[in-house]
Amino acid sequence: MAEEKLLVLKNIRDPGYAGDLAAYRKTGGYTALKKVLQAMKPEEVVEAVKASGLRGRGGAGFSCGMKWGFMPPPGDKPHYLVCNADESEPGTFKDHLLMVGDPHMFVEGMIIGCFAMHSRHSYIYIRGESMYAIRRVQAAIDELYRNHLLGKNILGSGYDLDLTVHPGAGAYICGEETAMLDSLEGKRGLPRFKPPFPAQSGFDACPTTVNNVETLANVPFIINEGTEAFAALGTPNNTGTQAVCISGHLERPGVYEVEMGHNLESLIYEYAGGIRGGKLLKAVVPGGASADVLRADEIDIPYDFDSLTNAGTMRGSAAVMVFDEDTDMVEVAERTIRFFNHESCGQCTPCREGTFWIKNMIRQFLDDAGDEALMQRVDRAAGNIIGTTICAFGDAVGGPMQAFVRKFPEEFRKHFAS
Ligand SMILES: Cc1cc2nc3c(=O)[nH]c(=O)nc-3n(C[C@H](O)[C@H](O)[C@H](O)COP(=O)(O)O)c2cc1C
Ligand code: SF4
Repeated sequence: MAEEKLLVLKNIRDPGYAGDLAAYRKTGGYTALKKVLQAMKPEEVVEAVKASGLRGRGGAGFSCGMKWGFMPPPGDKPHYLVCNADESEPGTFKDHLLMVGDPHMFVEGMIIGCFAMHSRHSYIYIRGESMYAIRRVQAAIDELYRNHLLGKNILGSGYDLDLTVHPGAGAYICGEETAMLDSLEGKRGLPRFKPPFPAQSGFDACPTTVNNVETLANVPFIINEGTEAFAALGTPNNTGTQAVCISGHLERPGVYEVEMGHNLESLIYEYAGGIRGGKLLKAVVPGGASADVLRADEIDIPYDFDSLTNAGTMRGSAAVMVFDEDTDMVEVAERTIRFFNHESCGQCTPCREGTFWIKNMIRQFLDDAGDEALMQRVDRAAGNIIGTTICAFGDAVGGPMQAFVRKFPEEFRKHFAS
């Protein structure tokens, strides 16, 4: 197998690594926190993360340092950092691995983030079904309290911080940051209109930043090794490494860590071992179910935020789903829309109704009752959702549905009424 570029999976790749506080400390764990608390001002931490070029690994790829910089100076309201560990995008399982295999790495990044944004109490929102991850992260937090790395006067610095693990109840939409904040407040998780953005009015109407698990796991490296060392990895606007989840018809599905900009074809053939049973590749969904599908002849591209956007799709949650020559792409489209229809929160008519009607139309193809006009109707209904909804879920349904019909018309034609 080709060699990985290990940063967030560095410890996990060691087969003897226990993932507890003692093991993490042996690898240099919590030296970054010590450095920050002893020698850095909050704004210097924000500047370092900005300069590293770190972009959020949860989906949108927004600059982490810029987001931290949007938080207001300390005032009369508490500040919050909420770690998004919901990981509900189909095909995505990297955050689960990070939480179970090396929980202290992202927690250290989170404590540093809390210090940088003047937070005294913050939350880790973990998908409720991920019971093992919840237990591992809670055990890590308990160890930190016992060792004066959380609670009052951390490492004698005078800085106080509490972290609370909050299990979600298993709704995909609660991965969307504002729905997650509603859920955290004890309400039904519904995306909010933006503005106001969470940095102005987030959890309990207080300044809040939401960050993905992997985003935070990069922070200790940036502090320990320096912004230049991080920025030297990847490409100028897509710095660092990424943990990519590759699943589907492959010889070696799994999570592989490579530099940003690594070739997508190489990820599939050199890392994941190529298509199972020597079959041919038909399609790749490169960034979770919300990303537009690519045809087999479109995968010789760098795998990073900008390159995938330029290719008309997105890197999203770094979930690469691979389909071989025997796959019926209409079935893939049906499963995808069934998921989105089930998970739509129902606030916006185009999303609630559109996902329902597209699901019904695609089912007509599976009943071999399709025709050219129905294909166009699927395309049009999907287009009517894009850009017309409260949250990005709408675009995440509309784009992929159009892509299935536009890139694989021959697959839909196989299901025309005879
Ligand atoms: C429908 C939907 C689901 C999402 N699910 C997740 C998720 O499971 N995990 C995640 O980190 N981000 C998810 N996001 C993105 C978050 O809204 C947010 O942008 C992200 O957590 C910010 O963290 P980052 O800047 O570190 O990437 C989702 C977004 C949408 C629109
Ligand atoms: S786009 Fe869909 S999921 Fe998002 S707020 Fe509207 S109805 Fe809810």
